[in-house]
Amino acid sequence: MCGIFAYLNFNVNRERRYVLEVLFNGLRRLEYRGYDSAGISIDSFSLPLSRDPNLPRIYPSAPPPLVFRQEGNIESLVRSVYTEVALTELNLEESFSVHAGIAHTRWATHGEPAPRNSHPQSSGTENEFLVVHNGVVTNYEVLKETLVRHGFTFDSETDTEVIPKLAKFVFDKANEEGDQTVTFCQVVLEVMRHLEGAYALVFKSRHYPNELIACKRGSPLLLGVKVSEFSEEASFGSSFLDVKYLSENLHPKELFLSSDASALVEHTKKVLVIEDGEVVHLKDGGVSIFKFDNGKGKGVGALSRPASVQRALSVLEMEVEQINKGNYEHYMQKEIHEQPESLRTTMRGRLIRGGSSKAKTVLLGGLKDHIKSIRRSRRIVFIGCGTSYNAALAARPILEELSGVPVTMEIASDLLDRQGPIYREDTAVFVSQSGETADSLLALEYALENGALCVGITNTVGSAIARNTHCGVHINAGCEIGVASTKAYTSQIVVMAMLALAIGDDTISSRTRRDAIIDGLFDLPNKVREVLKLDQEMKDLAKLLIAEQSLLVFGRGYNYATALEGALKVKEVALMHSEGILAGEMKHGPLALVDENLPIIVIATRDTCFSKQQSVIQQLHARKGRLIVMCSKGYAASVCSGGSCRVIEVPQVEDCLQPVVNIVPLQLLAYHLTVLRGYNVDQPRNLAKSVTTL
Ligand code: F6R
Repeated sequence: MCGIFAYLNFNVNRERRYVLEVLFNGLRRLEYRGYDSAGISIDSFSLPLSRDPNLPRIYPSAPPPLVFRQEGNIESLVRSVYTEVALTELNLEESFSVHAGIAHTRWATHGEPAPRNSHPQSSGTENEFLVVHNGVVTNYEVLKETLVRHGFTFDSETDTEVIPKLAKFVFDKANEEGDQTVTFCQVVLEVMRHLEGAYALVFKSRHYPNELIACKRGSPLLLGVKVSEFSEEASFGSSFLDVKYLSENLHPKELFLSSDASALVEHTKKVLVIEDGEVVHLKDGGVSIFKFDNGKGKGVGALSRPASVQRALSVLEMEVEQINKGNYEHYMQKEIHEQPESLRTTMRGRLIRGGSSKAKTVLLGGLKDHIKSIRRSRRIVFIGCGTSYNAALAARPILEELSGVPVTMEIASDLLDRQGPIYREDTAVFVSQSGETADSLLALEYALENGALCVGITNTVGSAIARNTHCGVHINAGCEIGVASTKAYTSQIVVMAMLALAIGDDTISSRTRRDAIIDGLFDLPNKVREVLKLDQEMKDLAKLLIAEQSLLVFGRGYNYATALEGALKVKEVALMHSEGILAGEMKHGPLALVDENLPIIVIATRDTCFSKQQSVIQQLHARKGRLIVMCSKGYAASVCSGGSCRVIEVPQVEDCLQPVVNIVPLQLLAYHLTVLRGYNVDQPRNLAKSVTTL
């Protein structure tokens, strides 16, 4: 939800065109986070590499930084930038030995998509302070009122605009009070003291050219560091970011700030996951990190120089190929077809088959010290949103069966709305692909306050959920770029099935069952490969459904979640109304909708609910329902005996793993429906990946 990118080259000559392309490419990688408008800021003039602190802050004749903002996707911004007068008058080949550029792609929260509401937001016509922001400033109205009283005028409806204006206010005040040496970092720290809500911010300033400041609270932000071979060895021999070394040496380097790793990996794998409350100052080739201390009432004049802290760099495991579409037309398509491999990666090193005498078992490293406590908990509460919630719902029955612990389900926002009971004897399991979803994060805070043991299941190493839970498991599905979650869903189910196996590991009576599930897990990627062969069949079905207004999906037991998730996929990408219905509830209302026109998918694969689903099908036949039945291979005749229906036959697996197989044809159906209906599969209307706002 909004993507931030920034690029600073130091002592490496880069042409203006190159700087622009790095910024645009960064935005292209982050576009899935928001795509209703975008913007960048670059310098219009070149400055010397290292500046004498005694020189005036603004070079008298220097024009302010350039800002380009455009409604629409990144390509609209690219087109408009290259034709803007402000740029066409400048030389694209002009070289910069140091340059600081910032960029943003937006998912609108405050104010419609329009250039004035796009970022960078500015302190005023001179662009003294410019800010790109991901998150929401919750107290912006109060700040705005104060700033208006001090003579500021506002151009946008955004919450963000208060930030650069506040920076200018702080800067002007320090100067009025005679502090000509106030640093960029001091200004930002003072601004942070006044901000409430969630944010990741990058500041650029006309007063501090060649410098960038990044800070965050709640929303994600990473720093990528690329230095020349020679200096890399010298400065990164230790895993610590040697702030002093970086500051003292003028070795060529390129620094990047990004909302996520996918925009960094093509430049560098050395990254720093910026923590909440940290301020990162990029200046004169140095990287300084400060801890924000909310020392209320200090006043800007009294701001002291905060001490810098040392932090370890991490090495990204991601490869560039992972974030490219390869031979596929869309990310969603690629991610659906990647599932045999992503499932294998999810299970790698975690399933132990044992020898002839040894038990089959599951090893979840991130949980091993907590399994006993989870077993002893009074209740396991699954908490998540959207697809992640559905994945937890799919795993709930097997967790209940193998653990013997009651399992309840909570949609994160609903738990918060109700302030539902969470106890210290509870284990709260947070399921989130991004690990950054605002509702889930707030629910995590709530569960921590109530003393529950908090477990995270995420796809994003270093994410807020991964960092703030007591323990957890990474699903390792690989970077998911399509806004509609597909491979993360199946990997989440598999991780939760493994969690159930690990918790139930001490129960002798369920050993045969556990062994069968483990065998089923080993074979699952092959079964998913098999079900992917239905691609053409799903495309044909999509052609039949292309003009429909509505689609119902009936499921129950393990596959109630499949019905919800299948319907969610269809509605979010194909923009067709679709509803997942618990088949057991059919007679209590939904049956009224049934006629010969409304298409209904019934999931009736072989499990303990099969005979009940057969009778649901009979009742739908009796009402001349237009049925599409998903059944296990070889069962077509028995599911369709009472009337005509179209059949989707899928391979049969262990009942608790069947949702992993069953969702695949529905993912394919949603994908093809979307393409045939002419909608954008990877960037569905009004949506964005990582919902970091409430
Ligand atoms: C749907 C989808 C969303 C997310 C939801 C939670 O395809 O992707 O419903 O599942 O926004 O996101 P995470 O899992 O990142 O917490």
